[in-house]
Amino acid sequence: MTKPSLKHTIEQALQAVRKGKDEFTLDTESMEVGRILSIVQGVAYAEGVGAVRAEELLMLGHDVPGMALDILPEKIGIVLMGSGKNLKANEEVARTGRVLDVPVGEGLIGRIITPLGMPLDGRGAIREDERWPVELEAPPILHRAPVIKPLQTGLKVIDTLIPIGRGQRELILGDRQTGKTAIALDTICNQKDTGVICIYCAIGQRSSSVARVLNEMEKRGAMAYSFAVVVEGDDQPGMQYIAPYAATTMGEYFMKQGRDVLVVFDDLTRHAQAYRQLSLLLRRPPGREAFPGDIFYIHSRLLERATHLNTEQGGGTLTALPIIETEEQNISAYIPTNLISITDGQIYLNPDLFQRGILPAVDAGKSVSRVGGRAQMPGYRKVAGDLRLTYSQFQELEAFARFGTRLDEETRSKLEHGKRVREILKQERFAPLTPGEQVAVLLAVTKGHFDKLPLEEIDQAQQHVITALTSALDEIELLGEAQANDPIWDTASKALDTLFAKESPEEA
Ligand SMILES: Nc1ncnc2c1ncn2[C@@H]1O[C@H](COP(=O)(O)OP(=O)(O)OP(=O)(O)O)[C@@H](O)[C@H]1O
Ligand SMILES: [Mg+2]
Repeated sequence: MTKPSLKHTIEQALQAVRKGKDEFTLDTESMEVGRILSIVQGVAYAEGVGAVRAEELLMLGHDVPGMALDILPEKIGIVLMGSGKNLKANEEVARTGRVLDVPVGEGLIGRIITPLGMPLDGRGAIREDERWPVELEAPPILHRAPVIKPLQTGLKVIDTLIPIGRGQRELILGDRQTGKTAIALDTICNQKDTGVICIYCAIGQRSSSVARVLNEMEKRGAMAYSFAVVVEGDDQPGMQYIAPYAATTMGEYFMKQGRDVLVVFDDLTRHAQAYRQLSLLLRRPPGREAFPGDIFYIHSRLLERATHLNTEQGGGTLTALPIIETEEQNISAYIPTNLISITDGQIYLNPDLFQRGILPAVDAGKSVSRVGGRAQMPGYRKVAGDLRLTYSQFQELEAFARFGTRLDEETRSKLEHGKRVREILKQERFAPLTPGEQVAVLLAVTKGHFDKLPLEEIDQAQQHVITALTSALDEIELLGEAQANDPIWDTASKALDTLFAKESPEEA
């Protein structure tokens, strides 16, 4: 059934001549050519392609790339990576003998590309150092080290209560329009001068939303250390399916050089839907919510690749922030529960908080970071433990107090304190705080300095603390290394005491 593809053989020979190779071996694998049996919406069936391997790159009708996904005895199912509009039954399907791969290297930084590494920014071809396969095996346990270095988001509520470490996988989930992308974007922008390379992988979104994110990244100078892998909602489902794997491969290249990488997958709900579409077209049996049986595996295989490599492996990290959209706050739907169980914690954004203007709308009770606490700077620990407790107590109390019960003095003061903590944890977009600034403000609130202030003045008081403590702040920042019971704490504490002592008479 196989016949040689002349075009391909000539191309190979030419390549050999160009590279100055003195011998040219005929690659028989890539000469196996079959034909298309049928083609529908991004999926084709072909026969006679020979001993094709899983995930092998195939060329349909000479110029449309595709990936072998289903290998059956009599035919193979191919996922198209380009427009299949001009493809018809009986056209050629040629083997390439290699798996789907993407360009990796320094040349990616600052660029906007498709999952196959084609430029979308009109700035010419990508300079590639190497080509790496889209599907790479996750590093083995023996090559991994515990998560120990923090990845600062610059957002008080996350860095304090749900700290993220480099090499961690933290899920961001919430209903539509609750600020999921905003958190990821703030985190990317906060990586300026930290040496972390950021990858924004947009899957299946509208062009306008992607453009908005990329504009912000450009405007805030984040493109100097980032790049974006973009596949939109109306692109081929095959491209949407491979996008997160391709982005991870591109990130792994840097991780293996000992560097720190952050990948945002925005979002994996769309990714799961694209895979469901492919699976249904390939007639795989549908399971729960019509997703195929291996839907858990496609996400676990992806997120397993995020890790902290040990020093023998270069010590690089790949942090993953997958995003999931929930429907009507149902975090126990199929895809959200899968991802919650795969990741090392989740940041849940609550639409009720969003509506009440409590932004970022992080629901502290439903959010958790299972490994980041160890990576948190010691400076935070002194304030974080207390804060978490008082804040969750406050949330319970507040719900209870709504019934209009008469409250004793102690409960009332707890409520007042909690309200101030919540006020302090609010944060505008693109207003990151350094660890020192965060700790100073949090110290002030835990010490009760804000308790007497009216809620409207909290923001101003916060700014005041930050400006007044600038000198002490630099030292607090050093707490990253030092112990939380250092004399510096006393200095900061005293500075706060004097600051607020000075203010009280003015107000009176
Ligand atoms: N901390 C914040 N302060 C003020 N506005 C915010 C904040 N976070 C998000 N927003 C606003 O909320 C809106 C929704 O944010 P965003 O696009 O990040 O949500 P999303 O959950 O990613 O939405 P989608 O479901 O469409 O992807 C945006 O207009 C954004 O500017
Ligand atoms: Mg979004």
